Amino acid sequence: MEVDTVQCVASVSKDANTIPAEFIRSVNEQPGVTTFHGPGPEIPLIDLANTNRDQIIDEIVKASREWGIFQVMNHGIPPVVIQDLQRVGKKFFELPQEEKEKVAMVPGRLEGYGSRLTNKQQGTKNWVDFLFHNIWPQSQINHAFWPDNPPDYRHVNEEYTKYMVPLVDQLLEYLSLGLRLDANVLKEASGGDNLRFLLKINYYPPCPCPDLALGVPAHTDMSAITLLVPNEVQGLQVFKDDHWINARYIPNAIIVHIGDQIEILSNGNYKGVLHRSTVTKDETRISWPVFCEPPEDMVVGPLPQFVSDEIPAKYKAKKYKDYQYCKLNKIGVMLN
Ligand code: OGA
Ligand code: NI
Repeated sequence: MEVDTVQCVASVSKDANTIPAEFIRSVNEQPGVTTFHGPGPEIPLIDLANTNRDQIIDEIVKASREWGIFQVMNHGIPPVVIQDLQRVGKKFFELPQEEKEKVAMVPGRLEGYGSRLTNKQQGTKNWVDFLFHNIWPQSQINHAFWPDNPPDYRHVNEEYTKYMVPLVDQLLEYLSLGLRLDANVLKEASGGDNLRFLLKINYYPPCPCPDLALGVPAHTDMSAITLLVPNEVQGLQVFKDDHWINARYIPNAIIVHIGDQIEILSNGNYKGVLHRSTVTKDETRISWPVFCEPPEDMVVGPLPQFVSDEIPAKYKAKKYKDYQYCKLNKIGVMLN
């Protein structure tokens, strides 16, 4: 299966000072004119090794109400495990095209290697290629979409998953306790042991016109929660107080996004963060988000604890697969 890729477009336009018109954003989206520069607030950084657990919970609650995103350090994932994940992902994207196409996405499937260039969909194109595959639970893993190359790709990703699963449990516990729920409530309401972990690798090649294009345009994640590792190249931006601000790169930290499903379950107490990614003239940016998603048939709606006569439900309850369908087709998910 042949794949049209941004990597290929990038290698062709490398020595030009232009990019194909379909990558150029409208002015109100262009990062060159919409990025906030100058001193301002930073995404909260939370130390999970803090011995004062109540303080960790308070910080997570505040960040999830005010920002919808935070970074965590001392999260229990050894630096070498993160560095290995970065190493094998980078190696995969540097393989010859035909090797990568062994795990090409096939139409109608959510996993595999590809880009959105082949999509019939109209609209501006994103300066990014990607690889998607499930990493957890075991029953959801399809190794047909896991690269065989580099040879340690599988082992390294299994190691990462081993640490990622308990970290997500811990974060969902803190998020639950912070809303005065029992510790297991948000995990159970997003699928319990069937919560699905979908790994994506975003590969953003150098772009001759980084002020005009975007990697991933503004969106909130559909997931319950997303845990992301970037490489050292700046690119993630979040929308806060009407400004697009850069996320600071902190080596070995994990970036935690509140996704739409936690926003819905908490009836808006926690909010999903609007974010996007920019690209760079001379460097390749890579990021590794893990989207933690409810099973397709799971119904997600505001928990009864957050709905009353005074505070009505702000979202409709929906099966996760219907939510995905509506969002991908831009049908409103708010009640009005
Ligand atoms: C995404 C995303 C941001 C990044 O893939 O959903 O928001 O930093 N990526 O690459
Ligand atoms: Ni995202």
